[in-house]
Amino acid sequence: MADSTCCVATPRKRLMIFSGRSNPALAARIADKLDVSLGSVQLKTFSNGEIYARYEENVRGSDMFIVQSPLDDINSELMELLIMIQAAQLASAKRITAVMPYYPYSRQDKKSAAREPITARLVATLLEAARVDRVLSMDLHQGQIQGFFEIPVDHMTAVPMLADYFRYKDFGDTPLVAVSADAGGVKLAKRFINRVPGCDLAVLTKMRPDHNRAETMHFIGDVQDKIAIIVDDIIDTAGSVTSAIDTLYDRGAKEVYVTATHGIFSGPACERIRQSPVKEIVVTDTVNVRLGPDDPKIKVLSVADILARTIRNVFEDESVSEIFAGDNQLF
Ligand code: R5P
Repeated sequence: MADSTCCVATPRKRLMIFSGRSNPALAARIADKLDVSLGSVQLKTFSNGEIYARYEENVRGSDMFIVQSPLDDINSELMELLIMIQAAQLASAKRITAVMPYYPYSRQDKKSAAREPITARLVATLLEAARVDRVLSMDLHQGQIQGFFEIPVDHMTAVPMLADYFRYKDFGDTPLVAVSADAGGVKLAKRFINRVPGCDLAVLTKMRPDHNRAETMHFIGDVQDKIAIIVDDIIDTAGSVTSAIDTLYDRGAKEVYVTATHGIFSGPACERIRQSPVKEIVVTDTVNVRLGPDDPKIKVLSVADILARTIRNVFEDESVSEIFAGDNQLF
């Protein structure tokens, strides 16, 4: 007798979000936007520095998103992510996505001198070895980092959101000019001006006499009597932007603003910004930016909505580039 069964009922997909310890505030905002609760996971560090992770609820068959954006203790937070991925694999999660809005070591993406590592590639290798299924990141230092992976990488951008902030800010009739902080950032600045009608483009070049030191070398463009907005992907020690700010005031800019996706603000960054004549610095919460009362010039916008929409579309097998009208793959 012929078997009359033509299909087998499968369990419904289940979206679960967990957070590592690097940016729980962002993870909570994303979960809130998705109207789900953050999953419960026990994370601790033993006295010798080893990390332990255990999911405190059933993750079997789930479409799991782990939010981790390593910053303060960057190597431990990366290791914690790898451990969380492996624990999820061993607990039979169906698909695991590492949500890494800031990709650690992204600036080590090529050999610039003999005998250097390409650590951004090594991070990709480690993530794949832990058996992650997908990676979701934002404004990678170079888009080519996607090519370090064999698995899908969703590369999102905060630049339209940052550009809209300046587009709708009241600058009166003063013309705007977006300034790329270095030659490699021109695509980012072009993306910015595409979104801000009438905004001109200028370019700085810099040299690094040493790691964590930056000096502006050349300037192409005109900022005289204009509002200059420096556009960069990362502010780390703020050496690049404070050098650029001084150059732009020297060149006659009326006011100088800065915007960047990832506000790392390590070491001397906040002190440099406090002493700088910059009007305002606008970054996002891709990393856990901690500001004090002495940092009123720094404003943080949230990328939670962009990431929540991306996660929703990945979960529902919809396009993620449509969130940006296809405009998120130009890096
Ligand atoms: C470098 O190429 C990046 O785009 C940033 O300009 C750089 O990482 C910023 O670093 P810092 O703030 O330490 O100068």
